[in-house]
Amino acid sequence: MRYEFAPMEGITGYVYRNAHHQYYGKVDRYFTPFITPNQTKKFTSREMNDVLPEHNQGLAIVPQILTNKAEDFLWAAGKLRELGYGEINLNLGCPSGTVVTKKRGSGFLAFPVALDAFLNEVCTEMDRMGMKISVKTRVGKDSPEEWEELLEIYSRYPLSELIVHPRIQTDFYRNHPNLEAYEMAAEKLPEKIPLTYNGDLFSVKDFENLLERFPDTESVMMGRGLLTNPALAEQIDAHVSMTGRKVGQESRETREGQEKQNGHGYREFSDEKRRLREFHDALLAGYAEAIPEDRNVLFKMKELWFYFGQAFENDEKALKQIRKAVRMDVYRDAVAKIFSECELKNPPAFQ
Ligand SMILES: Cc1cc2nc3c(=O)[nH]c(=O)nc-3n(C[C@H](O)[C@H](O)[C@H](O)COP(=O)(O)O)c2cc1C
Repeated sequence: MRYEFAPMEGITGYVYRNAHHQYYGKVDRYFTPFITPNQTKKFTSREMNDVLPEHNQGLAIVPQILTNKAEDFLWAAGKLRELGYGEINLNLGCPSGTVVTKKRGSGFLAFPVALDAFLNEVCTEMDRMGMKISVKTRVGKDSPEEWEELLEIYSRYPLSELIVHPRIQTDFYRNHPNLEAYEMAAEKLPEKIPLTYNGDLFSVKDFENLLERFPDTESVMMGRGLLTNPALAEQIDAHVSMTGRKVGQESRETREGQEKQNGHGYREFSDEKRRLREFHDALLAGYAEAIPEDRNVLFKMKELWFYFGQAFENDEKALKQIRKAVRMDVYRDAVAKIFSECELKNPPAFQ
C-alpha cells in the first residue's frame, strides 16, 4: 500500500512536512499545497521556500500546480525541474469560489474540451522534458454525471497517477464521498494509470471499509485524518501488514514499545501523547524560525489546533484559551494544560 499526504493549503508547507516526517512514519509521498504560476513568471517567496531542496531534505515531495494555462504549467514545471523535481501534480480539485470562477481547480472540470487540449499540450511537452504528470481531481463541477467524460479524457493520457477525491465542486467537503463514481474509475481507468483514493479516511476502520469495497486498492491519500492523528498511516500500515490482528492489539504494543530510532529514521515512542507533544513543539519551533512575528506563528498553530483539538477528550476549555491567545506564553500554558489534563481519544479521529 502506498500512503500519500494530501496537499493542504496553509497547513502542510515544508515546516509541517519536515516535522511530520521526523516524528511519524509510513507516508511515502508528501504533496505540496498548490503553486499558482502566472504571467509574472515568478514564484512567490512562499512558493519558492516551500519547494527549495534544502527545505525538503530526505522527503519524497510532489509539487502541485494550479492553473488552466498550459504555458504557465510548463514554465513552472521547467523551474521545478531545475530544482530537481521529476513529477508535478495538477490540481483539478480545489473547490474555492475565487479559484473556480477563474476556471481553475475543480472549476476547470466544467470545460472538458479545454481540459483535453490542456492535457494534450502539457503531456506532450512534459514527456519531452522527461517529467511525469499526475492529476488530483474531483468527479465533476456541478454533477457526478460529468465524471464519465472526464474519466475518458484522463484515460487518454500517460498520467503517472490519478488521485480521485469523489466529491463534486459544489459539495466542498460536505456530503459523503461518491463511491459509485470512484468505482467507475476503478473499473474503467486503464491499468497503466495508477489510481489513488482520497476522501474521508479518518481511521483504520474507514480504511478497512474502503478495502472491503475496493480490495485492489494500492494507493491512498489522506489529509484531515493525518492532521488529526499524525500516526494514522503507521496505524493503517500496521493493520494491513499484520493480517488477522485486531487494531486494539497494535496500539497496545505501540504504547509498550521502546522509544528508539527505527529502520525508517523516525522515532517510535512509548507514549503517543508524548510523541504528539514533541511533534507539536517541533512545529512551533519550526514556525518560529520561519515566520517573523509571534502573532503569525500563533495564527498557524491555531489553524492546526482545529485538527489536533479533535484528538483529545474534554479539551474544550483549553481549546478556547488557545483560540483566544494573542501572546505566546498564554498559548504555551493552554497547550501544556491540554497535554497534562486531557487524554487522547482512542483512536483520535477527525469528526
Ligand atoms: C484546509 C484545506 C486545504 C487544502 N488545500 C489543498 C491544496 O492545496 N491542493 C489540493 O489539491 N487539495 C487541497 N485540499 C484538499 C485535500 O488535499 C483533500 O483532497 C481533502 O481534504 C479530502 O481528503 P481528506 O478527507 O483525507 O481530508 C485542501 C483541503 C483543506 C481542508
